Amino acid sequence: MDRRRIIEKADEFVRGVLERDSSGHDWWHIHRVRETSLWLEKMEGPADRFVIELAALLHDIDDWKITGSDLLDGPQQARKWMVSSGLDVEHVEAICRIISEVSFQGAAVRTPVSSIEGKIVQDADRLDALGAIGIARAFAYGGSTGQPIHDPSTEPVEHRSFSQYRQSRTTTVNHFHEKLFLLQDRFNTETARLIARQRTEYMKEFICRFHSEWTRNA
Ligand code: ADP
Ligand code: NI
Repeated sequence: MDRRRIIEKADEFVRGVLERDSSGHDWWHIHRVRETSLWLEKMEGPADRFVIELAALLHDIDDWKITGSDLLDGPQQARKWMVSSGLDVEHVEAICRIISEVSFQGAAVRTPVSSIEGKIVQDADRLDALGAIGIARAFAYGGSTGQPIHDPSTEPVEHRSFSQYRQSRTTTVNHFHEKLFLLQDRFNTETARLIARQRTEYMKEFICRFHSEWTRNA
């Protein structure tokens, strides 16, 4: 299969799996990450646009938030799909590595990315967790897992490890402090970092207003 055909097939495959997702990891999240990644490559490249596009398309197929798996054995569904599509081993390994490296794993856990293509996809994925869309996705995710919107008796936690982050029961408002407000300092590219700062300001304003309304001062 030529590269264009592999991208078309990956698009069909991922669309089929995530089309009905309501946890914020739906097909349109993948679509935005793909578009943002390709745009970031233009701003920050050169990098391999085929690797970027395929990694962006496949990056959430094995996400533990959707599958319940923990990625210890790597992104199995993505690997299986790439091998069965006849993609060469070098590309399969490069893309599996990116998928394993992109995810946030808790406040105190460093998640360095080893390739320029991975840095770009990680930045695009993180931008989609911020701003107006980020707010919408956070509450969609919280609703999909039965998590409360807010509980003034619980404080945000600084997660020291991936297992602590993964197992924690939190509220969506606390998630802003536990992850979303921290992301702006963890971008790889200058272009994404600038956008992240603006989107974070907007989210901080939102949370500020949320608390004002909660305490009936505004
Ligand atoms: P990552 O790749 O870093 O795991 P994703 O792109 O998979 O991030 O998206 C995670 C999305 O799910 C984000 O928009 C994030 O806000 C949301 N999310 C994850 N955990 C929670 C949570 N406990 N409460 C609310 N939203 C969450
Ligand atoms: Ni994602």
